Amino acid sequence: MGEKRIRVGVVGASGYGGMDLIRLLSLHPHVELTYVAGNHEESADIPEVYPFLPAAAGLRLEKYDPERCRERCEMVFVALPSGASGAVAAELWRAGLRVVDLSGDLRLPPDVYERWYQKPAADPGAIEAAVYGLTEWARAELRDARLVANPGCYPTGALLALLPAVRAGLAKRGHPVVIDAKSGVSGAGRHAAVDRLYGELQENFYPYKVGRHQHVPEIAGQLDVPAEGGLLFTAQLLPAVRGIYSTCYVWLRDGVSEADVRGVYAEAYADEPFIALAPPGRVPELKHVRGSNRCHIGLFVDQAAGVLQVFSVIDNLVKGAAGQAVQNFNVMYGFGETEGLTVQPLYP
Ligand SMILES: NC(=O)c1ccc[n+]([C@@H]2O[C@H](COP(=O)([O-])OP(=O)(O)OC[C@H]3O[C@@H](n4cnc5c(N)ncnc54)[C@H](OP(=O)(O)O)[C@@H]3O)[C@@H](O)[C@H]2O)c1
Repeated sequence: MGEKRIRVGVVGASGYGGMDLIRLLSLHPHVELTYVAGNHEESADIPEVYPFLPAAAGLRLEKYDPERCRERCEMVFVALPSGASGAVAAELWRAGLRVVDLSGDLRLPPDVYERWYQKPAADPGAIEAAVYGLTEWARAELRDARLVANPGCYPTGALLALLPAVRAGLAKRGHPVVIDAKSGVSGAGRHAAVDRLYGELQENFYPYKVGRHQHVPEIAGQLDVPAEGGLLFTAQLLPAVRGIYSTCYVWLRDGVSEADVRGVYAEAYADEPFIALAPPGRVPELKHVRGSNRCHIGLFVDQAAGVLQVFSVIDNLVKGAAGQAVQNFNVMYGFGETEGLTVQPLYP
């Protein structure tokens, strides 16, 4: 594709997902960032308001205006809260732009969305047209996609951990899959809330939205199991900023060994630039992926119990949001999949 640059916009640029999009896109060799918008009236130079984004010099953060967005962009990332994001994404898509939406608004059928999000669903035509962008499992559909529903952060970690085993038929029928997941606090976005005050969060740890987390139907749908009865999902808030640790349990069909499981995962992820399988006896850690688009996966089979444990780590804002959105953009435009995403994890 040579030096071709796509005129790209970010809507929701003053949120955590939007900021990470700017961080990645301002260094992307095939992107010209032409529009970044939030929800505030004032207009300001990006490095002035966000000194941690020096590569975005010359870009101004402005209040979202659909007409200006359409004039300046051919492709847009929309990272607004659920309930607002899908409408903006659908409007831009209907105006002829290619769109990746980071919210949950386009990921579920309207009736399922309304039940789990307790909000009116977005444009049903847009929901129908949107490709679910778990990149490693959706490349063929992403190549021609004009509208992409970027997966949720918990679903990304859980599905990358579980899909090889489930799609290969290793799971025993009649047993629910168990996902015990912990997220850093940036998963909740950049707005004030008492339960996210330092004094509440530090040295604390607890599950939330038990039995009613909106990511349950998204994960269940992709695993092709019922949201009720097919899946036990627990979301927990970690006193950390970035990262999701998912420990998943799969009851295995009789006779399936750890060697069988490792063979399935090695084949599924053989050529994946962002996925690493830990060797036997090792498990991944949050800090192995922080700041990067990587997902690290560890495997252990308790042969006596007949249960597979899968451990996965992602950075919720990168592989769980902005990074995967850029990866999807790369596939949509035929660029190398790692373009703009070669940043190494940040350790310690
Ligand atoms: N955080 C994560 O780890 C993560 C991971 C995957 C997916 N997501 C999804 O990505 C989306 C963005 O998440 P985030 O964490 O970046 O959220 P956030 O930090 O709360 O940012 C939300 C952005 O939307 C703007 N906004 C808020 N209300 C709006 C409205 N009614 N109309 C128009 N714009 C509005 C905000 O602008 P102002 O700042 O100007 O108010 C801000 O730019 C959400 O749908 C979230 O579910 C988040």
